[in-house]
Amino acid sequence: MSTFPVAITGLGSYLPEQVVTNEDFAQRLDTSDEWIRTRTGIRERHYAAPDEATSDLATAAGRSALKDAGLTADDVDVIIVATTTPDHPVPATAPIVAARLGRTCTAFDLNAACSGFVYGLQVGAGMAAGGSTVLLIGAETLTRYVDPDDRSIAVLFGDGAGAVVLQRDDAATIGPFDLGSDGSELEILWMRAGGSREPFDPIAHAEASSRMSMRGGDVYRHAVTRMTSSSQIVLEAAGITIDDIDLMVGHQANLRILEAVGQRLGLPEDRCHVTVDRHGNTSAASIPLALDDARQQGLLDPGARLLLTAFGGGLTWGSCVLTWSGTVGGGQA
Ligand code: COA
Repeated sequence: MSTFPVAITGLGSYLPEQVVTNEDFAQRLDTSDEWIRTRTGIRERHYAAPDEATSDLATAAGRSALKDAGLTADDVDVIIVATTTPDHPVPATAPIVAARLGRTCTAFDLNAACSGFVYGLQVGAGMAAGGSTVLLIGAETLTRYVDPDDRSIAVLFGDGAGAVVLQRDDAATIGPFDLGSDGSELEILWMRAGGSREPFDPIAHAEASSRMSMRGGDVYRHAVTRMTSSSQIVLEAAGITIDDIDLMVGHQANLRILEAVGQRLGLPEDRCHVTVDRHGNTSAASIPLALDDARQQGLLDPGARLLLTAFGGGLTWGSCVLTWSGTVGGGQA
């Protein structure tokens, strides 16, 4: 199982300015703050402005992570954007971000839905172990892909971006990782139309097939099962137990999912970091956003052992263990 002599040397995030509260939904849909909070833990989420696309959020988060690392864009060899909501079907969003940063370096997108950041961390850490300075960004504008009038799904998602800089450091370790997928049940969380199976059609675009659709109960059950078993796999591979984990930073889809995973793993509640209440589900952006939030709350001391775990459409899942590096934030010191 893969481990890499790599450190996160910079961390940054960007949340769009507009905040949409549960009360805002309650004013126009048949829902309530109480329903949303008790089922999901979400209180509010951020929405990208009409002129903001995924690359705008990604570029802002990327710049912030580079500044944090004390680097400039010229130092970056590889840009990976983990996203399921690219600016355009073609090309990828990463080259757009690279151009905005003034770079013509290696740049590509990675789509593993809400597990994209953990997938990107393994890919990026592998490249960083080989000597590249990697800017890994999770960025999403999922609110553009949900039907704003569908109460069962619109209330769940938010927009945002988070980024890390990955650099080789022989004193640091990222991993082990566990990444998995099961494509036999893709329809429990998907957008049916708009790809090669069912190409984009302006008439269909107005229909439900070109919006995200989800069987919430099935997603919930799979998420709890997969995030728990995947976490157990990386803990065992690392030769540690849940008692050795200082903070679990899981994909922020639903507070009840995080609590159920924590309970099954035997993790005390105060070691499970929660941002879903303020961010909603930001898919591939949720873990780096939560990492930045945890740091702002003083929860990421150098040497802290973290468990990252994610689940998303595909189905996909992924987990890893990492030790928070003392070199993070060198640019701001
Ligand atoms: N406000 C009020 N009622 C709502 C509602 C809302 N925003 N959304 C759905 N409902 C209704 C449903 O229509 C249903 O009504 P019905 O019984 O008359 O048909 C009722 O609430 C119960 O729906 P149900 O789906 O059983 O609720 P739930 O307790 O399972 O919670 C989710 C629904 C979506 C919150 C929950 O299943 C969930 O969080 N799943 C995981 C979603 C997720 O995290 N996805 C991303 C993973 S990466």
